[in-house]
Amino acid sequence: MTSRSATSIALLAGLLAVSSALGGAHLVRQHAMHASHQTPTPERWLEPVTSTSPQRVAQGRKTFLQRCAHCHGVDARGDEGPDLHDLQVSDRYIANTVLRGIPHEMPSFARKLQGDDIAALTAYLRSLEHEADRSDP
Ligand code: HEC
Repeated sequence: MTSRSATSIALLAGLLAVSSALGGAHLVRQHAMHASHQTPTPERWLEPVTSTSPQRVAQGRKTFLQRCAHCHGVDARGDEGPDLHDLQVSDRYIANTVLRGIPHEMPSFARKLQGDDIAALTAYLRSLEHEADRSDP
């Protein structure tokens, strides 16, 4: 046996040992756990488009100024909390974030806001995306 093929057999054996020790399923699970809660999800495209009538957006903006602006900025450009323009997240993610809050970062609004308020807030946040589109050359 040449020393070269001996080396490659040793390498192969080593790889096999490592991969069976880690286990494929374990690796996949670990990966899923590390995925950020802010990872964009394709589910956004499967959901009905939020109604963004001017009235709805105005209602959402009012609630935003009352409840969210002191952290996210009056124009939602971010302050203590992040800029909320061009959110790459689903409506459901926005609703969940507002209802549950984010531990140590953002309070839960479950006791303060109704589903209707959250839908209006979402319409307002979506209108910010369109604002960004319009300013594109
Ligand atoms: C006490 C300050 C505070 C208030 C009040 C607050 N937020 Fe937040 N919010 C944050 C912080 C900080 C983050 C980012 C947390 C992180 O990095 O995970 C955040 C994150 C978010 C996100 C997720 C953004 C993303 O890209 O994942 C959304 C959506 C959001 N806020 C909407 C709102 C809305 C709507 C309101 C009002 C009902 C609100 N927030 C009120 C501090 C706040």
